[in-house]
Amino acid sequence: MQVAPSILAADQLHLEQEVGRMIKAGCDLLHVDVMDGHFVPNMSFGPGMVLALHARFPELRLDVHLMLDNPADYLQVFAKAGAWGITVHAEIPGGAENCLREIRALGCSAGLALKPATPATAVTELFPLTDMMLVMTVEPGFGGQHFNSAMLQKLSHLRALGWTGLFEADGGLQLSNLPLLAAHGLDVAVMGTAMFGSDDPARDIARIHEM
Ligand code: DX5
Ligand code: ZN
Repeated sequence: MQVAPSILAADQLHLEQEVGRMIKAGCDLLHVDVMDGHFVPNMSFGPGMVLALHARFPELRLDVHLMLDNPADYLQVFAKAGAWGITVHAEIPGGAENCLREIRALGCSAGLALKPATPATAVTELFPLTDMMLVMTVEPGFGGQHFNSAMLQKLSHLRALGWTGLFEADGGLQLSNLPLLAAHGLDVAVMGTAMFGSDDPARDIARIHEM
């Protein structure tokens, strides 16, 4: 399993050191949450952060999670800023289809995120347009929430419906619940609080890589 530390949980005044620490510890991707205060009741980073991270850490794959009502307006700017992957939500007005097509056309990995209440059956038609399926294991908006174990069934359901691509999970992930997620086929673990709060992220990432 791969690890994508989420910078939402990093010390915001020392992001360069915080990200450097995660790279040194062996992280595979860096998860950047983008929130608009409308799609979710919180605000976070914008394209300027992606640009700055990409300039400072050009080898690092930036996994950009767009929690926006209108992600279509920003796909190009995030791709230009240096995003490796861009994830949009299935619940956005008008649906995610056109965004997924555009993300691929921009040369990025296309991610599709599902809030906890969105069933697997809502996205089957989008399977061919999606590279990574992000199953939210908390209600999006804030770090440090409790893992919703009912989402494990969604992973199984998506597989049963024919999803054969990568699985990412986001929200409340800890070393303690990762074995269960691994058993359900998880490929990429987004970890905010657990990774930036760890006293030994290198040890934790090494363990996760073995799962
Ligand atoms: C929640 C965000 C997550 C968040 C996860 O809306 O999408 O990426 O940073 O944080 P933890 O791992 O602390 O639950
Ligand atoms: Zn996220």
